[in-house]
Amino acid sequence: MNKNVLVVGATGGIGAETARLLRTSSANVFITGRDAAKLNSAGDVAGIPQGQRFVMDITDREAVKQVADAIHAQVGQLDILINAAGIGIIKPLEQLSFDDFDKTIDVNLKGTFSLLKYFLPPMIVAKKGLVINMPGVLGKTPMGGAAAYSASKYGLDGLLKSVREDIKRTNIRITNVYMGGVDSAFWDNIDLKVRRDAFILAKEAAKSVWFLCQQPTSGVVSEMVIQPFNHQVI
Ligand SMILES: NC(=O)c1ccc[n+]([C@@H]2O[C@H](COP(=O)([O-])OP(=O)(O)OC[C@H]3O[C@@H](n4cnc5c(N)ncnc54)[C@H](OP(=O)(O)O)[C@@H]3O)[C@@H](O)[C@H]2O)c1
Repeated sequence: MNKNVLVVGATGGIGAETARLLRTSSANVFITGRDAAKLNSAGDVAGIPQGQRFVMDITDREAVKQVADAIHAQVGQLDILINAAGIGIIKPLEQLSFDDFDKTIDVNLKGTFSLLKYFLPPMIVAKKGLVINMPGVLGKTPMGGAAAYSASKYGLDGLLKSVREDIKRTNIRITNVYMGGVDSAFWDNIDLKVRRDAFILAKEAAKSVWFLCQQPTSGVVSEMVIQPFNHQVI
């Protein structure tokens, strides 16, 4: 594949599998995660060199800048930026605290803004690239208990669609992936009756992200929807 790819949130279910798959296609993969031990374990499984693994909290804008500078010093610019970082605080409004709301917006929305601010400029100069984000189906359709999460993901959707207009004179493609339930650690602390056994496997979800990375530059997959068969909400 011969592309320089960054997977942010590569310690997560979808991100780790995506990084591993892309490595098997000979992409030059950079990964980030918040926890060094988890990051190294994901990096070892995927076969990613030590110098291409970065501990980074997406809410720390200075850390995002430092990682961007370090990657750009190595490869000039990314060909593909995949943001698989995100948190899900799913609670009804009466249980949702101000902290829950702020944290969700900080990670899912403002964190993505930092990624765009620091990784897009060299892509814009090169006039090429692909940016993949995961607003999920709750970035397109509402669900009870998901006020904070949906606010962050609808915001993410709007952010990316607007940036798409800003950069439409470049060849940078923006793809938003709307996944339904994917069985990952994302659901471990969510107090909701869900059938995880009927969810999409993280490794299958990662295949769809891998597929997006293989698309020719003549066209653009602007949206992809993938949901559990028995729980289609879009
Ligand atoms: N699972 C689903 O059903 C589903 C459906 C639709 C959309 N999505 C979206 O898909 C993306 C990946 O989800 P997943 O299922 O792979 O979730 P996951 O297994 O929980 O992984 C989440 C990833 O986000 C990272 N992360 C969390 N907070 C962060 C922060 N402050 N700074 C940097 N990284 C942070 C985690 O890092 P740590 O390991 O350090 O925590 C982890 O790598 C998320 O954006 C999620 O909203 C998921």
